[in-house]
Amino acid sequence: MNSKRVLISGGAGFIGSHVVRLFVNKYPEVEVINLDALTYAGNLENLADIDNLPNYKFEKGDITDEEYINDLFKKYDFDGVIHLAAESHVDRSITDPLSFIKTNIVGTVNLLNAARNHWNGEYENKLFYHISTDEVYGSLGETGLFTEDTSYDPRSPYSASKASSDHLVRAYFHTYGMPVVISNCSNNYGPNQFPEKLIPLVINNIKNMKPIPVYGKGDNIRDWLYVVDHARAIDVIFNEGKHGDTYNIGGINEWTNIDLIRVMCRVMDRKLNREAGASESLITFVKDRAGHDRRYAIDSSKLMNELDWKPSLQFEEGIEKTIDWYLENEKWMKNVIDGTYEKYYNRQYEER
Ligand code: NAD
Ligand code: DAU
Repeated sequence: MNSKRVLISGGAGFIGSHVVRLFVNKYPEVEVINLDALTYAGNLENLADIDNLPNYKFEKGDITDEEYINDLFKKYDFDGVIHLAAESHVDRSITDPLSFIKTNIVGTVNLLNAARNHWNGEYENKLFYHISTDEVYGSLGETGLFTEDTSYDPRSPYSASKASSDHLVRAYFHTYGMPVVISNCSNNYGPNQFPEKLIPLVINNIKNMKPIPVYGKGDNIRDWLYVVDHARAIDVIFNEGKHGDTYNIGGINEWTNIDLIRVMCRVMDRKLNREAGASESLITFVKDRAGHDRRYAIDSSKLMNELDWKPSLQFEEGIEKTIDWYLENEKWMKNVIDGTYEKYYNRQYEER
């Protein structure tokens, strides 16, 4: 590890909290500063197990605040940045695109500028690592995989804002010589994911015997990766990735939404001692997502061959672990499902 002081943005969110935990535990000699605005998606409870460790610090702040970000670089003299802070939910981007433009594009440029100003052309042992998504590549047909050379074709305000931020990060590499690396990952699942996303939403609804909303026919396909395996990939890429390069990260694990939900129903029936089929009866087909991307699937062979990473968990094991975590952490779910969530949920699903 070249870095002594690493800024992790968005560290109170789903993936960020797993990355913070891995770095704080694995690198006790490295100071990890978690910068997070604590939006509805940020939750310090996600890090309760490590928040008193001496190499961890939390800073509440907004990446869109230029002055604040510049001051933070002066205060800590970061040599590494792992940038995860973002608005991350596609459905929210359809109803409110502007907040995605502000956080995902303007916020990323603020961080790039602060790093550039602070490092002032002295780039030895410095790195800006931008975390992105496979959604920038658009939508696949029945066959084929996204590679690092696939042309960008974002189709939602969320993916367009992430694509834009990827282009800007690359522009800082080519124009200013800033050392950067980018990774584009497929759908993550696991503990601590906010229940607006499919898997925790389905777990929560099954548990409470509420309808399971399936968009369209449920035949859209996603490639699911256990979140800890994404954090492991981020660690490897941060330490060994080639500057200026992009790495795709995926689970080699494609599922149609409806098949995935049916598996979850069976596992939940067993765990909750319900009659077989009880949870499946909750499946409700609802109006499709606007511009719903048909299929995502990642070719991670570059990461596997060059940096020797591969997913460690089979999906069957990962989904059991995930369901167990949500069932054992009722309090976590109760705390995130407040009045604001209820309002979001009703607005999002009432008219479908
Ligand atoms: P999340 O929504 O769970 O967490 C985002 C975090 O960013 C939250 O803690 C939030 O408080 C913080 N944040 C939001 N706006 C901020 C701002 N203006 N200033 C500072 N902090 C702010 O998201 P996630 O699912 O953990 O995704 C993290 C990153 O990984 C995102 O960049 C996302 O695009 C990318 N990604 C996610 C997935 C996935 O399946 N979830 C897959 C690939 C890539
Ligand atoms: O591919 C990576 C992306 O995965 C990340 O960049 C995003 O941040 C992350 O949110 C995720 O995007 P998706 O749109 O694929 O995830 P979501 O959990 O919202 O939906 C997964 C699939 O399930 C998708 O095809 C839409 C469908 N869906 C979703 C919800 C919330 C439903 O059928 N019903 C639902 O209620």
